[in-house]
Amino acid sequence: MTLDRGRQAASTMFALSAMLLLSGFNCLNGAHAATKVDDSKGPVFLKEPTNRIDFSNSTGAVVECSATGNPPPEMIWIRSDGTAVGEVPGLRQILSNGNLVFPPFRAEDYRQDVHAQVYACMAKNQFGSVISRDVNVRAVVQQYYESEVNNAYVIRGNAAILKCSIPSFVADFVTVVSWNDDSGNVYQYLGNNIVIQSYEAEADNEYVIRGNSAIMKCEIPSFVSDFVAVDVWSDSDGNEFYPGDESSLVVNQYYEAQVYDVFVIKGNTALFKCQIPSFVADHVEIIEWVTTDGQTYGLDDSFDGKYMVLPSGELHIREVGPEDGYKSYQCRTKHRLTGETRLSATKGRLVITEPIGSKAPSFATEAMMMGVRTASNTSTVLTCQAQAYPVPIFRYGVL
Ligand SMILES: *[C@@H]1O[C@H](CO)[C@@H](O)[C@H](O)[C@H]1NC(C)=O
Ligand SMILES: *[C@@H]1O[C@H](CO)[C@@H](O)[C@H](O)[C@H]1NC(C)=O
Repeated sequence: MTLDRGRQAASTMFALSAMLLLSGFNCLNGAHAATKVDDSKGPVFLKEPTNRIDFSNSTGAVVECSATGNPPPEMIWIRSDGTAVGEVPGLRQILSNGNLVFPPFRAEDYRQDVHAQVYACMAKNQFGSVISRDVNVRAVVQQYYESEVNNAYVIRGNAAILKCSIPSFVADFVTVVSWNDDSGNVYQYLGNNIVIQSYEAEADNEYVIRGNSAIMKCEIPSFVSDFVAVDVWSDSDGNEFYPGDESSLVVNQYYEAQVYDVFVIKGNTALFKCQIPSFVADHVEIIEWVTTDGQTYGLDDSFDGKYMVLPSGELHIREVGPEDGYKSYQCRTKHRLTGETRLSATKGRLVITEPIGSKAPSFATEAMMMGVRTASNTSTVLTCQAQAYPVPIFRYGVL
């Protein structure tokens, strides 16, 4: 016996079930009970078989039944009339653990009294017995069958129902698991009226002007769109982009930064701007300026040289002289999310104009409207973009 011999704390529940279930209860004699700790108990099911067991002759079946008690109960299988069931060689076995076994059998060995029978499992020791619910055992000899689908006639636009006809002799044991069509589509019933349908999502070509942003769409057929979400975008280079991932959302779009020529009167200040397309501007920062003579100017350089890179990324050149006109200027940008750095596609030249006569100071239009907003304890640079000849004197005032 492999039954649990461990002592279990006496519980009121057990006492109750013992009272209800025990027939022919043998009362301990009073003197005994008083002098000994009474850990004896009638059987209780640990595993009770289910009400119906259907199986095929090719698979066979094991009907499990186990119970505990002290002493460990004896397991007996009985028929509905209460008579004990015995072994039938090759067709029915009773294991010492209480399990009832129906081995696979040949069609000609089918026996109604074995293979189509109502059984019950009984556990008993001297303190009582318990009987399981009825177990309807039904063995089916595997039989060849074909199911059929008949033509359905339907007026265009109406709903059609196709039926799968299953021969009645197997109908109890056969269920429709899926519908398949000629094109290889598979339809499955999932419960809740949800049907698994095969579908294809499409990503169409998108046409976009270079440098502009593009949105790729995943077209999901409407009949599954409630249940289908985009998991990942992948490109032919093997990159994968996940929805909700910020770096993915940017989808590593191609962009070009541009630097335009700057016109300046000799001796004045020039300001080069690195133009970044707005669709990536949030993710791209200017890290340095490069001149054709190989000089680089970074952001962290000091603010008081002739060349300085403003926190906003512009290159500020003071007191422009003819030597500044011989080189051109490019900005180098870095994509914060992808980490990629890139030189601007165009180089800006400094076009130095010789003063002709005199010119009163004038601001570049955008400089007039410039507002600066900065964290309270960070340093910033205020520029005063005005040109004149003679070179103007600047004075900053606090309003
Ligand atoms: C079960 O019955 C089918 C049909 O007669 C037979 O082909 C199959 O071999 C049987 N299975 C076993 C294990 O004998
Ligand atoms: C501002 O100054 C405080 C105190 O020195 C410091 O803790 C904080 O990090 C500074 N903030 C910035 C944006 O530098």
